[in-house]
Amino acid sequence: MLLFIGERKLSKYVVKFSPDNKTVNVEDGKTIAESADIVGIAIDSPCGGNGTCGKCKVIVSAGNLEPPNEAEETFFTEDELKEGYKLACQTLVTCDMEVFVPEDSRIRAIKILSTGTGREVRLHPNISKVYVELSEQTLERQISDFANIKEVIKSKFPNITIELEMLRALPAILRPSKFKVTLVLDGNKLIGVEPGDTTKKNYGVAIDIGTTTVVSTVVDLNTGNDLAVASALNTQATHGADVVSRINYTIENEYGLEELGDRVMQVINQITEYACAEARVDNKNVYEVTIVGNTTMTHLFLKVPVRSLAVMPYVGVFSDPVEVSASKLGLNVNPCANVFVLPNIAGFVGADTVGVILASALNRSETIKLAIDIGTNGEVALGSNKKLLTCSTAAGPAFEGAMITHGMRGAPGAIERIQLTDRPVYQVIGGGKPIGICGSGLIDIVAEMLRLGIVDDTGRMAGLDDLDLPPELMKYIRRNDEYGLHLVLYESEERNIVITQKDVRQVQLAKGAIKAGIEILMRKLGIKLEDVDEVLLAGAFGNYIRKENAIRIGLIPDFPMDKVHFIGNAASAGSKMALMSKEAREEAVIISKSTEYVELATDPNFQNEFMDAMMFPTEQ
Ligand code: FES
Repeated sequence: MLLFIGERKLSKYVVKFSPDNKTVNVEDGKTIAESADIVGIAIDSPCGGNGTCGKCKVIVSAGNLEPPNEAEETFFTEDELKEGYKLACQTLVTCDMEVFVPEDSRIRAIKILSTGTGREVRLHPNISKVYVELSEQTLERQISDFANIKEVIKSKFPNITIELEMLRALPAILRPSKFKVTLVLDGNKLIGVEPGDTTKKNYGVAIDIGTTTVVSTVVDLNTGNDLAVASALNTQATHGADVVSRINYTIENEYGLEELGDRVMQVINQITEYACAEARVDNKNVYEVTIVGNTTMTHLFLKVPVRSLAVMPYVGVFSDPVEVSASKLGLNVNPCANVFVLPNIAGFVGADTVGVILASALNRSETIKLAIDIGTNGEVALGSNKKLLTCSTAAGPAFEGAMITHGMRGAPGAIERIQLTDRPVYQVIGGGKPIGICGSGLIDIVAEMLRLGIVDDTGRMAGLDDLDLPPELMKYIRRNDEYGLHLVLYESEERNIVITQKDVRQVQLAKGAIKAGIEILMRKLGIKLEDVDEVLLAGAFGNYIRKENAIRIGLIPDFPMDKVHFIGNAASAGSKMALMSKEAREEAVIISKSTEYVELATDPNFQNEFMDAMMFPTEQ
């Protein structure tokens, strides 16, 4: 369809998406993925639309298609190309189209671990609520409204300040409430005045912005109790699964920074609204918000440019905590609420790692502990109260399902556990038929393949003639043109799920990165594995893996099982601690300044260490 606007000829095409039955009009230059995004269909894009992951496949059933490009020829068979298979990120809309978006090409609600183990802290929030009954103003006692307030609380809060907006609002609150009001103080700043006694309604929200998921916890600041937790996918994921893709998006698109900032704010507002409703809390009674996230996420949240994180020496714009009022950010809580963004340690070790250290008390430990946060990136922290080192490893993509033939995130339909008996025996998130395999399933299957000799210590898959396995199981090990040598985990008319040699290599790369990071930190600290007292596994993903299999593939050090502990979403727990305690907040600042960041890329041993770490441990 062609529209003529004045002199200008503007092409508008109609794209109809099924099975959603949604239609969108788009101009020239939009891809199918961008068109789907407009109507709220989130197509998975782990590689950020670079055409290198093959996860954004769609089927174009009507419309003239451009010939397949190189990426599409790589990911699709000839038959699939004939059927109209296209990569949504690579296909420009150049005519009216009908596009089918398969279930496994969508970003689905994933299994999110929202809670973590935090250390007990003394309840001492930054926000105080004080009920006061102001004395009468008379001709004999001509005292201004604000001076009247200052007078009544001067013994507890000697030097309070007020901003212009609050001053303007005072008369309309004080008089109708007969001067019986609750003062809301952020430290010494008067940020709210509420009619009557509302001291029982004092709430805060702790937010954890992950690259993949966002978690919001509503906390009663009078008791320290969690009232409700809500979580959702970070919708920035439509512009790439990892931070590098997101940074690039802001560099390549004029309004990219604005868009990614808006996207995460929208998610935060949605889940916070939901959690407040669950807790029966009016979001206008939320006066304090704390934020953790990796350095890229906290920058994007504040819409601070991230370009400098992509070029040497990979530094952010800020590393100290940032405090700003909610109204300046568009955060839907009380407009005067104070938003406290925890400090970062380095360009690739952010406030989320500060949260993990705070929650796990690594910085206070008398003995040496190792914390591994296995998320989209793998951050590692090692040390004790004497010295603490940290690094960031490029571990994420494989364990998040990217770059794995049938990989997916831990969403319904993912194989999350698997064993090989005389056949693959698996457990699927949400039950039903599997549609892919997620990180924990991947660790299981590689451990099983090692156990049975299907894969050797170098990661090489044994040839069909070299295997000595029960005939029933041998039926699942095959070779064909599409996948080469592979293990079939599931097959049906609809789909096959397989593990290929390439997938095993991806697992080796990911676990090798984490292991190399651990080795280098141990060397820098001058310790051996025996000196480590405890291994703590943090992160949404960490809790779902089987320790013995993670050790078998060498993802975590070979360590007595009883000394390996899951601490859940410790970053979120750290955010909550900072919400509840001013002292914890100060401790977070000390952690960010005293933890030494180790840049792996410049370590002369990294390449050798990485090559060694890619090998699977030899079974004792
Ligand atoms: Fe399209 Fe990766 S190939 S998003």
